Amino acid sequence: MYNFEYKNPVKIFFGKNTISKITAEIPENTRILLTYGGGSIMKNGVYDKVKKALKDFDVIDFGGIEVNPHYETCIKAVEVVKSENIDFLLSVGGGSVLDATKFIAAAVYHKTGDPWDILAKGAPVENAIPIGAVLTLPATGSEMNGNSVISRVSTTEKLAFSSLKVMPQFSVLDPECVFSLPEKQVANGVVDAFVHVMEQYLTFPVNAPLQDRMAESILLTLIEEGPKVLADRKDYDAAANFMWSATVALNGWISPGVPQDWATHGIGHELTAFHGIDHARTLAIVLPGVMNIKRESKKEKILQYAERIWGISTGTENERIDAAIQKTADFFESLGLPTTLTAYQIQAESVNRIVARFEQRGFKLGEKSDIDYTVVESILNDRL
Ligand code: NZQ
Ligand code: ZN
Repeated sequence: MYNFEYKNPVKIFFGKNTISKITAEIPENTRILLTYGGGSIMKNGVYDKVKKALKDFDVIDFGGIEVNPHYETCIKAVEVVKSENIDFLLSVGGGSVLDATKFIAAAVYHKTGDPWDILAKGAPVENAIPIGAVLTLPATGSEMNGNSVISRVSTTEKLAFSSLKVMPQFSVLDPECVFSLPEKQVANGVVDAFVHVMEQYLTFPVNAPLQDRMAESILLTLIEEGPKVLADRKDYDAAANFMWSATVALNGWISPGVPQDWATHGIGHELTAFHGIDHARTLAIVLPGVMNIKRESKKEKILQYAERIWGISTGTENERIDAAIQKTADFFESLGLPTTLTAYQIQAESVNRIVARFEQRGFKLGEKSDIDYTVVESILNDRL
């Protein structure tokens, strides 16, 4: 196992009727900017519950944060924060709202140059406004990590940054929020969480059996509980298990001391940037390609995954790897997520455009930093 440092200061309130807990978490006389998305929180009652809990605070609403949140919108929020002397940000929504809120929190303190540099040039996050979150969509793990992914419309870029300074002070996870989710968002959430685990698990062995088994338990739970949530959105227990699985898939519990991949996400972000495909849907396309093209360097872990997750234990190594890739793709398809580029009418010209971007950037992806633009091309061609 590798050396590691680990810190996670996020306080979690999990369960029914926990939104009211936020009142005691925010200091008195705080001016709050309540950030939200396209209005789902107005329809499912979450907004009213939040407003009730905040009745003794000064609250300014900032709605309209997009799915795959836009840099341009975040900058508007930064202006509001400054002009209204806001000292706390409360994100009420899914990963997009929370990621935007994290970027807003950091951008306010970015004094020299363009805040986009935090994403594009790795400019350090000097400071950030404190954040709280009421999470309404299990998927990203953003509620318990320091990551944020922002899209810039003007340049068709989608980039990420990470900082301990933007981790929420608290996150409320009320599984009843799942009840109002459309089928597509549930399926997306299951696949996003599943692939988060795979990015931290499907690499190469470093003798870390605890991390492996924790990762496998999350995968198995998602395979069991995901379809239950899809079948009955009001199944509270299934919703709760799904919600917590998505959080622990990317809160740093399974990554300490082990190699990580993230090539599927890196390539997937380009599919969202150029084609607007939902984040999880890009992952469902790319992951089977990464498994296929990197089958040799990931061999030991794919075989372990095949056996422990899908019970595949007979056949040659290549046959077992093929079967594991097929099972993975079948699982995504069973949830309603297509696994090919062709399903989205994406053709070779688009692959070339994405490959050119990786060639221009020059860096390599994957746990061994061996996925250059030529390998990206093979992975995408595998999905045509
Ligand atoms: O905008 P509203 O009206 O709120 O509707 C949203 C949106 O249309 C809706 N929704 C959310 N909660 C709902 C609901 N509808 C009904 N009932 C509810 N309870 O769902 C739609 C999708 O919301 P969004 O926040 O975009 O989804 P998600 O949570 O999947 O977030 C996706 C974003 O997170 C990034 C992705 O790249 C993408 O931009 N990611 C963030 C990560 C992180 N911070 O660690 C890691 C991930 O890998 C991912 O990259
Ligand atoms: Zn993801």
